[in-house]
Order: sequence, then C-alpha cells, then structure tokens
Amino acid sequence: MAKPKRRYICSACGNESNRWQGQCPDCGEWNTLAEEAPQTVFSQKHHLSSGGRAIRFEPLDAPGETPVRRTTGLPEFDRALGGGLVPGSAILMGGEPGIGKSTLLLQATAKVALSGGAAVYISGEEAAGQVRLRAERLGLAKAPIQLAAATSVRDILTTLGQMEPPALLVIDSIQTMHSDQIEGAPGTVSQVRGCAFELIRYAKENGTALVLVGHVTKDGSIAGPRVLEHMVDVVMSFEGERSHQYRILRSLKNRFGPVDEIGVFAMEGQGLTEVGNPSLLFLSGRDNPVAGSAVFPAMEGTRPVLVEIQALIVRLASGATPRRAVVGWDSGRMAMLLAVLEARCGLSFSSAEVYLNVAGGYRLADPAADLAVAAALVSALADKPLPADAVWYGEVSLAGEIRPVAHSSIRLRESAKLGFAQAFGPGDPPERTDGARYKGLSVLPNLVDRIMAGT
Ligand code: TYD
Ligand code: MG
Repeated sequence: MAKPKRRYICSACGNESNRWQGQCPDCGEWNTLAEEAPQTVFSQKHHLSSGGRAIRFEPLDAPGETPVRRTTGLPEFDRALGGGLVPGSAILMGGEPGIGKSTLLLQATAKVALSGGAAVYISGEEAAGQVRLRAERLGLAKAPIQLAAATSVRDILTTLGQMEPPALLVIDSIQTMHSDQIEGAPGTVSQVRGCAFELIRYAKENGTALVLVGHVTKDGSIAGPRVLEHMVDVVMSFEGERSHQYRILRSLKNRFGPVDEIGVFAMEGQGLTEVGNPSLLFLSGRDNPVAGSAVFPAMEGTRPVLVEIQALIVRLASGATPRRAVVGWDSGRMAMLLAVLEARCGLSFSSAEVYLNVAGGYRLADPAADLAVAAALVSALADKPLPADAVWYGEVSLAGEIRPVAHSSIRLRESAKLGFAQAFGPGDPPERTDGARYKGLSVLPNLVDRIMAGT
C-alpha cells in the first residue's frame, strides 16, 4: 500500500495541502495550517466500478412522506427556520460568544420538552449546575429536559442508543466535542468534522432534529471548519450588538425553507422574549426632527421593518484628511452614493467628515436603502430636517436614477400603519399606496431639490 501522505488542514476554511505553509493558499489566513492524521490513500489498483451493491433509482414524484415539522415553541425561532424543526435535520447555530445562543436553545429545548417531546440538551461548555441555574432564572426549572454535561461523542451516542430517540438534541457546542477514534485535540478540523458527522448520522437515522452550536470567528464565519456548513441542512446565525437588547436570528442556508425570514428577540432579565412586530423597533425616539435622520421601510424576508438612518457631516478646516465611518451599512456603498451625489447633483462632501449610522444596532442589506441614505446625507449636509412623517426607499444607480425596488406596496402599507403619511420612492406610484401620500422621484437631483425646498 502507498505510504500515507502528510496532510495539513487549514482551521479556517478546511483547505487541505500536502506541505506546511505560513499562509493558507485558499483563504489567505495566516498560521492556520495544522498537521492532521494521514488519510489512507487508495491505490489505483482498486477498481471502483465493481464489487459495490446496486442502488435503486426513484422517480421525482414518488409518494414520499412530507416531514411534519415540530414547533420549537418559539414562533420567532420557527419563522426563521421556515416553519419549525424538520425531524432528522441538522442545524448549525452560529453567533458571537455571549449573544444568547445557549439561552435561546435552552428555552427551545424546554418548550419542546413541555409540549411532550423528548428533548436532550448536552452542554460541553458549562457544568450541569450552571445550566440549571440559568433554567431557574428563565423560569424553566420544571421543564422535563434531559440535561447532561458531556464532551465525548462516543459516550453521548452510546447513551442515546439506549433510549428512545429524542425529538430535539442540542449540542452546545460542537467545538467542545471530541471522539477518541479521531486524532487531534477537540476543536481541530478533523475532530469537529468527525464528531459532527457522527451526530448528524444519528439524527438522520433516528428522525431527531439536531442543533449544533458553533462558535464564530472574528470575521463572522462559523469557526474554523466551514466544512460544517456543507454538512448540515440549515445554517443559522444569531446576531445583534451585545450592548443593545435586540437579537436577530437569521438563516443563511436552509434546505427546507426560505433564507430571508428572520426571527426577532429581545434579551431581557428572564431570557429572550419574542418581538412579534419588529417594525417600530429600530426607530429611535423621534420627537423633534433633526437634520440627517431618514426613516427607511426595509424588508426582512416578507416582513417590513422600519429603520432610522442617521447621517452626520462635519466640515473640516482645509488640509486635514476627512474620516468616513459607517455602522450598519456597506461602506463601499456609501462611498458610491457620495460620489453619485457629487457627480450628479453638484454637492461637495470632499472636505467634510461623513458618519453614517443605522439606529438600534441593525444591519441593513436591502438595496432599497440607497434613497434613504441619500436623503439622510443631503439633509445633514444642508442642515435641513426631513419631514417627520416621511419614509424613503429606492435603489440609486451610478447615473443618479432612482430605480424601482421589490415589495413597494408592503413597505407603504407598513409605513402608513405606523403613521408615516408621506413616502418618497422611485418613479411612478405603485398600484396601491394604502393611504400614504406617494411622491415619485426619478433622479437624485429631484431629491436634492425637494430637501432644499423643505419638501
Ligand atoms: P448565552 O446564552 O450564554 O450566550 P452564548 O451561548 O451565545 O455565548 O447568553 C449570555 C448573555 O445573555 C449574558 O451576557 C447574560 C445575558 N442574559 C440575560 O441578559 N438574561 C438572561 O435571562 C440570560 C439567561 C442571559
Ligand atoms: Mg453558550
């Protein structure tokens, strides 16, 4: 048999190479390559075309069982999952330390257990006593959860093999798990991958919904093994600013549902509470209108969320290099908007510092935010407050045109419901404006004229 090759695996992206290097050739991270146990290499003499068993082909429309989803007992969690837990599925839950992953999953486990399903919570990070204390604080101490502090996957699977398979199995976290059949310390790529593989196989064979908690690296990807993202059915991320109360549960990949729905929670003294109607959440106190603040009706999946965009412009004495800082939006996109405002509207931001902030720790990804950001910037530059009852949405092109965006009528309906009587958007009004006074703007100079004229 051929001599086993040395292999080096990058702990950030899982890329394999056969010599050690300081920088991973695939993802460019430094000092992430580590030697892993050699893999048996099959020689060419093994023929893969014979000796196997025949597989059975099936038609696509064969009557199969549609999986019955199980509720987590937390409607916002169900919503982010696309309608609840699918039996036999594997979910990877990522998020920064302290954001509330353990709290959320303990609450979900308790709800599942209280509704009559068997639910197992395995903590590899905290002692059982610590988890119990938290459950007490959450008012869930009476929930019939099967709780254990363990890190050996062999012990966990042996124990599970001797009981009825649970409806929900939470592993907090996959990075603390280890298997004695795999080389390497807990947390290394081969350990994490091997342990996840065994746990996922158990889940698939037994119809258990499995949730693996995964730590997140500083750039936001789920720690090390991105390979895990390929192995699981659903990848979720629990986000928020730790200094703010609000937490957003997002699904980044979902084999069983849409990926644009979010669940919104607030972290309170008794754990996470659900925020069923988040549309007003990200508006700061707006009593007297200030220059540089614009309200944007954003879409999160099928739900509208009104967010406040704040811009601040500070004129500098000539010579100093102006700073540009953006929180909650793409800084490249802001640079583009500033350039379009300069080139198409004759405004000058060149000797001014520009700060942009999305209120409430929210992160905007909706391209329709362009017009609201432009309105905030122009309002800040001109020192003219925007009307307090107005919302702004539309995509801005490099030519300075304001382009139509999706879900106009949902945005307008929600804005009108919350008392925003005017809406500024692209071109012609949509078919239904639901009571909002709609004002179409076709190019950016229209926006500037409106704001300068006090709209
Ligand atoms: P935790 O679930 O331990 O986070 P993770 O598992 O993602 O690391 O959440 C820890 C934080 O949540 C901690 O800083 C305290 C806060 N918290 C509350 O504010 N209220 C509560 O009821 C609980 C249980 C935690
Ligand atoms: Mg935790």
